Amino acid sequence: MSKTLGLYLREMETKHGIDPQLTGLIAHLADTCKEISFKVSRGALAGVLGSAGSENVQGETQKKLDVIANDIMCQACAESGYVSGIASEEMDHALQVPEQYAVGPYLVLFDPLDGSSNIDINVSIGTIFSILPAGTPHRDVTDEEFLQPGVNQLAAGYVVYGPQTQLVFTMGHGTVVFTLDLSSGTYLQTSEGMSIPAAAKEFAINCSNMRHWEAPVTRYINELLAGKTGPRGKDFNMRWVAAMVAEVHRILNRGGIFMYPRDNRDPSKPGKLRLMYEANPMSWLIEEAGGVATNGYERIREIQPTGLHQRVAVFLGAKEEVELVTSYHQ
Ligand code: AHG
Ligand code: MN
Ligand code: MN
Repeated sequence: MSKTLGLYLREMETKHGIDPQLTGLIAHLADTCKEISFKVSRGALAGVLGSAGSENVQGETQKKLDVIANDIMCQACAESGYVSGIASEEMDHALQVPEQYAVGPYLVLFDPLDGSSNIDINVSIGTIFSILPAGTPHRDVTDEEFLQPGVNQLAAGYVVYGPQTQLVFTMGHGTVVFTLDLSSGTYLQTSEGMSIPAAAKEFAINCSNMRHWEAPVTRYINELLAGKTGPRGKDFNMRWVAAMVAEVHRILNRGGIFMYPRDNRDPSKPGKLRLMYEANPMSWLIEEAGGVATNGYERIREIQPTGLHQRVAVFLGAKEEVELVTSYHQ
């Protein structure tokens, strides 16, 4: 009989002294993602596919589900009583908790819907979240309060909406997996701790950007592509799902390396992925599973953020591979 999410969280409180307000927040987010999962699974039947006809702060066209998932997550966080402020990929600035709701000691950041280009084609997508300390609960939060390095995170995770809906998260005691049991509506534990092998046979990178890459990345990928007769002496396989949630999920389950490097198209955009609600939470999940996550130069979780929506190059996954491509940047 698998352990329920509720029981696991109670055990974390007693074994590791985790604040019941933090476990309460995680349970609340997990419940909230059931609602997103249900809408995702209904797709065209629920009228949630296609474009919303608007743009977010990154200048990306929003899909209906980006907006729907963002609204659901914001409302859930606001009414939870556990948070002082909310920040999202889909909102220019941090959101304060409206007067009618209580505030709590946490800040929540999220990418409400990751892998937007997969929504309309029924391929895996997800919701990523990161929880930071807010200090004494208060209402007047500013963007600046969120600019804490990833090592400050108190919990981080994602829910992947794929053939199964799964919650994957960490509170610093391993990366654990819960699968949503549709017959009972509960999350049941299906992995007690993920572990990424140090060596890898698979890599993930969007090769259509190759002509824009910087030299260390070109060198590394060329060596992988050279296979058995090249400097690495073995063949590698390649995957690209175009949803970071799905790539990280694959790496947690069967190893490999994922890269979204910076390139020389636009120096103001170091990479595509966002530090605060994509790279930081995913880096912690990878590290808790024995992997490594850098921006090519330094550990992602030690970067001091300067903006809520700042972008960062990402190399994460198998220790040996991430360390090798990072060494090429030195
Ligand atoms: P989002 O849908 O939240 O904007 O994020 C998409 C990100 C990431 O999940 C994925 O790895 C990458 O963009 C895909 O980029 P390409 O368009 O280069 O495939
Ligand atoms: Mn994303
Ligand atoms: Mn998104």
